[in-house]
Amino acid sequence: MRVGYVQFKPSFGEVKENLARAFALMERESADLWVLPELFATGYLFSSREELAELSEPVPGGATTRALLEFARDRGTYLVAGLAERDGDRIYNSAVVVGPRGVIGRYRKLHLFGKEKFWFEPGDLPLEPVELNGVRIGVMVCFDHFFPEVARTLALRGAQIICHPANLVLPGMGQLSMRVRAMENRVFTVTANRIGGEARGEEVLRFTGESQVVAPDGTVLLRASRAGEGADAVDIDPEKARDKRITRYNDLFADRRPDFYGL
Ligand code: ACM
Repeated sequence: MRVGYVQFKPSFGEVKENLARAFALMERESADLWVLPELFATGYLFSSREELAELSEPVPGGATTRALLEFARDRGTYLVAGLAERDGDRIYNSAVVVGPRGVIGRYRKLHLFGKEKFWFEPGDLPLEPVELNGVRIGVMVCFDHFFPEVARTLALRGAQIICHPANLVLPGMGQLSMRVRAMENRVFTVTANRIGGEARGEEVLRFTGESQVVAPDGTVLLRASRAGEGADAVDIDPEKARDKRITRYNDLFADRRPDFYGL
């Protein structure tokens, strides 16, 4: 299975341009599963709830999901991508999983970062992996990386690959913790991070790039630069994520002691 990430700099509010840019990057490579950044088509730094409402979209009817579906059908591929999802009067920082036959998964970010708390509702959907051609895929979004329970829950529920759309701003941290999330759960992780900066009102953020694919032993299989755009992919064997042994005598899942973990 070939998996990859798209790393680029969306222009705030320019949905059409951002969709075209992301698709143009993916057209230069091939992958069975692509991961795109958090909020990849809108940009990140909203300045009001009204602005977010205008840029948010229903799933699956919105322009971003429709464009992803078209790309998935044309190229016979699967995509995991972050978007602002409107559901009635609630808006979520979501990620969708789409494939040639439609939308097959949806995740709403559980742990909102910074001012996201002003604009978005916290996620309310279970951490349930979805299956693509026999491979189980989990989804988490950006800041969720600080909460090891997210990746653990996905892995305990069978995820072999954790897709991680991101807009990371704390240098090196998400890249490091996703290596640990991969290693402690013996899963593959694919982080798609954005680059560039956004300055809106008094808020200024810089995004840290270094998108990556990590193997179940924590090895970085592929990593992008800090500031360059690109879509890169690598071949992996997802079956490796079914084996939770780290020595002959230690299986990271069988050796857990959940009786001692409750508060
Ligand atoms: C983040 O969760 N976008 C830092």
